[in-house]
Amino acid sequence: MHETGKSQERKRILTGDRPTGRLHLGHYVGSLKARVRLQQEYDTTLIVADLHMLTTRPNREAIEEISENARGLVLDYLAAGIDPAVTSIYLQSAVRETSELNLILEMLVSVNRLNRIPSIKEMARAANISDEELPFGLLGYPVLQAADILLPRAHLVPVGKDNESHVEVTRELARRFNQLYGEVFPIPDALVGEVPTLLGTDGQGKMSKSLGNAIYLSDDEKTVNKKVRGMYTDPKRVHADIPGTVEGNPVFQYHDAFNPDKTQIEEFKSRYREGKIGDVEIKDALALAINRFLAPMRERYCRYQEDPGFVDQAIIDGTERMRAAAADTMRTVRSAMGIAGALNRIARTAEKRRKRLEKVEQAG
Ligand code: TRP
Repeated sequence: MHETGKSQERKRILTGDRPTGRLHLGHYVGSLKARVRLQQEYDTTLIVADLHMLTTRPNREAIEEISENARGLVLDYLAAGIDPAVTSIYLQSAVRETSELNLILEMLVSVNRLNRIPSIKEMARAANISDEELPFGLLGYPVLQAADILLPRAHLVPVGKDNESHVEVTRELARRFNQLYGEVFPIPDALVGEVPTLLGTDGQGKMSKSLGNAIYLSDDEKTVNKKVRGMYTDPKRVHADIPGTVEGNPVFQYHDAFNPDKTQIEEFKSRYREGKIGDVEIKDALALAINRFLAPMRERYCRYQEDPGFVDQAIIDGTERMRAAAADTMRTVRSAMGIAGALNRIARTAEKRRKRLEKVEQAG
């Protein structure tokens, strides 16, 4: 990477997920869709953030699951349309520069600032961690994320809504670093999907693995049918002839997100509002739409499952590429900060002192 070539370089994306489970429709509309769309335009790197997983799950069992979960995650990426020929995928813990940059960035943000980020408390609550037990590393979650984003000097970060505040911290850290030590980092932008928060099938909150209300990209047709049939709708509508509410109804949110037939959706909505349609008709059409949407992914799952070595090799190659980029950035960071030469300066003084002593001895 030569400084002179910078202007012609494509802009970079860095984003990714923790290896804690499979990806679902919420991930797709929140950020995966944008990642797939933008990978041809941006130099894209996806992170498998296993160090971030440790912030709430540092236990041995979780660590032992990393490689299997990483494979599952990468398989989901590829099935969703991530093209391994243009997009790098890497394992965070295998790039040590992450930890070094994390430590440097930790000096540039206050504990107070981090304490005001709601997602940290939410992650603690979801992991059953009390306020008193909140790990130092979990408080630093957004700082570690900033290290990920700044290592490849990324310009754009397609993420779910819950990660927007972490990109805001990253922007502040990049500005602060540049102000103190010189222009090293671009100020990255967050990009959140058009459907920022997809509801769960239970309609009670956002779609998430831990709430058991998710439809996975890897679900088969039968599972999708079953999950859609069981979906929460308007609870006041105990009969098909009672007018129903479309707003905040997950069945209609999914129709909007996954059914390309907009005329059908409008017809369903008006008949629903008038109490002139049964839930089953709407749900069957939805299951059909979701299954159509997932069909090309299912094809790719089959293809990649036949060749598991391909997924492994993609992670290995991507990690090598990231290591090179990270080493390059850290050389720049150390020299910008002036800490690169500190030991050299000590060595030079030591050498001078030794020479002086030699002379004195010779003279004596
Ligand atoms: N915080 C992300 C999550 O919710 C994972 C992640 C780690 C990430 N580092 C990142 C996302 C850098 C975008 C950019 O799982």
